[in-house]
Amino acid sequence: MSSGIEQARKTAEGLTDGSYSFGFGNEHSSEAVPGALPQGRNSPQRAPLGLYAEQLSGTAFTEPRAHNRRSWLYRIRPSAAHPPFTRIDNGAVRSAPFTETVPDPNRLRWNPLPEPAPGTDWLAGLWTLGGNGDTTQRTGMAVHLYHANAPMADRVFSDSDGELLIVPEHGGLLLCTELGLLAARPGEVALIPRGVRFRVELLDESGRGYVCENYGRPFELPDLGPIGANGLANARDFRAPTAAYEDVERPVEVVNKFCGNLWSAVYDHSPLDVVAWHGTHVPYVYDLRRFNVIGSISYDHPDPSIFTVLTSPSDTPGLAGVDFVVFAPRWLVGEDTFRPPYFHRNVMSEYMGLIEGAYDAKAEGFVPGGGSLHNMMSAHGPDRDTFDRASAAELKPQKIDDGLAFMFETRWPLTATRQAATAHHLQQGYDDVWQGLERHFRS
Ligand SMILES: [Fe+2]
Repeated sequence: MSSGIEQARKTAEGLTDGSYSFGFGNEHSSEAVPGALPQGRNSPQRAPLGLYAEQLSGTAFTEPRAHNRRSWLYRIRPSAAHPPFTRIDNGAVRSAPFTETVPDPNRLRWNPLPEPAPGTDWLAGLWTLGGNGDTTQRTGMAVHLYHANAPMADRVFSDSDGELLIVPEHGGLLLCTELGLLAARPGEVALIPRGVRFRVELLDESGRGYVCENYGRPFELPDLGPIGANGLANARDFRAPTAAYEDVERPVEVVNKFCGNLWSAVYDHSPLDVVAWHGTHVPYVYDLRRFNVIGSISYDHPDPSIFTVLTSPSDTPGLAGVDFVVFAPRWLVGEDTFRPPYFHRNVMSEYMGLIEGAYDAKAEGFVPGGGSLHNMMSAHGPDRDTFDRASAAELKPQKIDDGLAFMFETRWPLTATRQAATAHHLQQGYDDVWQGLERHFRS
């Protein structure tokens, strides 16, 4: 085991509840050094301890208060002091607009990403599957996967194009962000807001998972309507970091994703030098096992919107740019009900991934680290084995607790990248899972 992993693990193990600030969308505040955070104002004539005050805005200044996101950072050096950025190779990262292939109405399914070359860090191991929208218009989203086996060493990333929802599937991550440290292990998700700089270290020999890059409005908790004041993902279960700064004076590469391309500049210090901060534009970690699952206790299978963890609203009420949905352990008790997800065609487009175990609509072929894409109006649902089993099952109360699947559901069709459309790990013959669904009706 490399000493880097050992150190990252020790650091992560040291992150107790006291290392976090709890709540989603509320005003968090934290100082790594007592007195570093100004009181009563954001930008005093001289910020405390000789720090520089800087505002980081994730929404326009004038967006409604309920959606507004900004943080004030008190840092050793202002972000403005940096050398010029120059273009670097985009690696396997692609961005909207996605034009390498045409949108495909076929149902597609992939196996996990292959093993990366030795020394692949999280950023180098980022591989874009597809997406929609336009980064320059701040609309749409991208689906990426990552597979890494090395820490980002003296390398920091920030994404101007969108926020990043990171879904570890194998191996834990230590996210060293401008606002502090977050550990995210399989079963947890991490949200890095637009523009927040961060470095990824590994808590295990390798790390593999999924990323939803949301170009649109920041994710928020969905409204609960008749569910009431509690339920689904509860705000208090989101963990924001507390301030932790690096006072490092040596070359550090800062990579910025900007309108689809990667740009790089070598700073003479670490930009993770925020000593205190307060605000609403903050990273989070959320444990999906805390999701309060709401479902039917009479009959029928509710629409999967009931499983929404986070939603990025569009300008049309009720229509999300992208929803993050989890299929968490739950009881099924519906009477006279076909209990797995029903057959459907949907105007929204669905990318599904699996964090562990199995998914209750697919008996096989949908594996952890893999994923499926069911684009706008493509017909899908349970496979033959699942249909036969569920149609004949005795309807006793049943606990579904052998898997953790999720979905990025988006308003526009996803277009695959060329590398995804031609990948060796794209499964051939996915359509076959719906073969053999026999006719039972006789006219
Ligand atoms: Fe679906």
